[in-house]
Amino acid sequence: MDLKQSINQLNVPQHVAIIMDGNGRWAKQQGEDRIFGHHEGVNSVREIVEACGEIGVKYLTLYAFSTENWNRPKDEVDALMELLVSTISMETPNLNSKGVKLDVIGDIQSLPLSCQKELQESIDITKHNNTVTLILALSYSSKWEIIEAVKKIAAAVKDNKLNISDINSNLISQHLNTNRFPDPELMIRTSGEHRISNFLLWQLAYAEFYFTNVLWPDFRKEEFYKAILSYQNRERRFGQTSEQINQLQ
Ligand code: IPE
Ligand code: IPE
Ligand code: MG
Repeated sequence: MDLKQSINQLNVPQHVAIIMDGNGRWAKQQGEDRIFGHHEGVNSVREIVEACGEIGVKYLTLYAFSTENWNRPKDEVDALMELLVSTISMETPNLNSKGVKLDVIGDIQSLPLSCQKELQESIDITKHNNTVTLILALSYSSKWEIIEAVKKIAAAVKDNKLNISDINSNLISQHLNTNRFPDPELMIRTSGEHRISNFLLWQLAYAEFYFTNVLWPDFRKEEFYKAILSYQNRERRFGQTSEQINQLQ
């Protein structure tokens, strides 16, 4: 069945966030080392970005490297950083030709300089594109991001640039790394893990969650369309009753 045809174009999430998990287990199943899985995962990234363009998802945030991932063996961290540089450098022309704009969230200054440079180049090259915004979460954790926001807000209060009474939901959102994007309506996690692993804690407050056992290197367009269809079958009530929601339609 062609799942793409079943998608309701009027109810496509604007922003999808994905915890790309399971590369290591996928590689192990093939008798390969973990890095092989990360390489294969890049092919899934390419397909999912393309799928977003095809169905009209405007923002795609991919959790590519968490603050906690720095604690992995050095060989794996080094290989991931190298993969990041080579992938960005190789994929930028392809992203650009498809109208994809690259953006990043996270503690970018903690990345090796070669990564920072490659990212900045790609961001500059793709900055006028507007088909899909691809947001890579790199050296990212939600608690880190919230701590940084709290520090900035506290400093503004201390300098009399802000009153405590001005602190509200919008102000906090504006101080997060994600301030230029809408909150995701859908969060997908692959590989059968049912946790959020320090990802977008604030921004996912009312997102729909979709969990699949499929490992990230096997998560291709059809799997993505399944997640979109699952999202479209949900009733988002935002605290109201089902009757209220249906009256509004
Ligand atoms: C996700 O796959 C990629 C990153 C976290 C960088 P994993 O590397 O976590 O794969 P598993 O969970 O060990 O299978
Ligand atoms: C989450 O995956 C981070 C990324 C996908 C980049 P992990 O595999 O690191 O998550 P945990 O530690 O198992 O929860
Ligand atoms: Mg994992």
